[in-house]
Amino acid sequence: MAILEKPELTIFLTSDIHLKNKEDETKLAQILHHISEYEDAVFICSGDLTEAGVESQFSSFYKVLEENCSLPRENILLSLGNHDVRGPSRADWSNNAKDTPSWYENARKSYLTRNYMYSGATTNVYFSNTIKGYKFIVLNTEKSLKDSCYITDNQLEWLEKELQSVPEGKVSFIINHQPLRDTHWRSNDLEGFGVQDGKVKRILLKYPNVFFVSGHVHNGFGSAEIIDKPYGTMVDVPSLFHTANGINTDGVAYKMLLYKNRAEFKAVNLLTKEEYDNYHLEVHFPLLSELYNKKQQLVDKQKDDVMFLDFCQDVFSPQYDQQQFEITPMFSSEKQEKNLFGSDYRIKVEEMKKVGVK
Ligand SMILES: [Fe+2]
Ligand SMILES: [Fe+2]
Repeated sequence: MAILEKPELTIFLTSDIHLKNKEDETKLAQILHHISEYEDAVFICSGDLTEAGVESQFSSFYKVLEENCSLPRENILLSLGNHDVRGPSRADWSNNAKDTPSWYENARKSYLTRNYMYSGATTNVYFSNTIKGYKFIVLNTEKSLKDSCYITDNQLEWLEKELQSVPEGKVSFIINHQPLRDTHWRSNDLEGFGVQDGKVKRILLKYPNVFFVSGHVHNGFGSAEIIDKPYGTMVDVPSLFHTANGINTDGVAYKMLLYKNRAEFKAVNLLTKEEYDNYHLEVHFPLLSELYNKKQQLVDKQKDDVMFLDFCQDVFSPQYDQQQFEITPMFSSEKQEKNLFGSDYRIKVEEMKKVGVK
């Protein structure tokens, strides 16, 4: 009988819970009970934990978490979304990075006083936890902008040091609410990531062996994708309760099975326990970004290396016409016509990686 390989970690990737009422609390409690049944599980929510970032919603969110999730606390990684920080009053909202909207201090306090149990961080909103040797880096906005995030120079410096300390060849995780620009469908909507987009990418280009996990754009399975870029592998997590298109029932998430040599992304529903086989994906290590970086640094490139680098350029180059989506309503039943990075793309990438590691 074949011995079933056990994953090193089972990582539940969720996003955009937008908790606001009793119904949300009940659904979240059910999900947390379910994932607590897994040994070595990690629970990630990449922001928009609450609908309006008010103290009562933060309080309810963390109460549900504390009462229903029995995972080790360091295995719970939560980042702030724009809904958590911008405040309940539209009149105070701004997307201008030069502004410093005043609600931020409320959100920061609500988050830090509760999240320190999971992060150990009492002053900075950014932190990292290491679980079974894997580093999980949580970035967080330091201004309450309406849609985008604001990453200070101190946070960028810290990020670089964190990545520097990752052992050679080991993949790590960065969790941020907003995706980087020119990646996922609608990643440029409403100011996109924000003004530090280029600075973050420049750091990642030096340490590209990362999964960059984000939410915010509310793509569902069918639109949410995993995209290879020279600066890492970008993972768009569907929103748990507010998916805007594709499979848009409550409870959709990725269950990521992390093995030494690969990550299997299972498209699942954490409420109904359904699996959506058509949207499962597998990413083998090393990541394409890491291989590309290594080959690029070779002084004496052989013919195969040049061919591999050309292939990578082909993979990195397709981009959504983000412009046309800037006028698309966020919540519409429309889906983009064709996935740019569907399963065919993934198969091609994995095949070429085999050539690259030779
Ligand atoms: Fe959201
Ligand atoms: Fe958001």
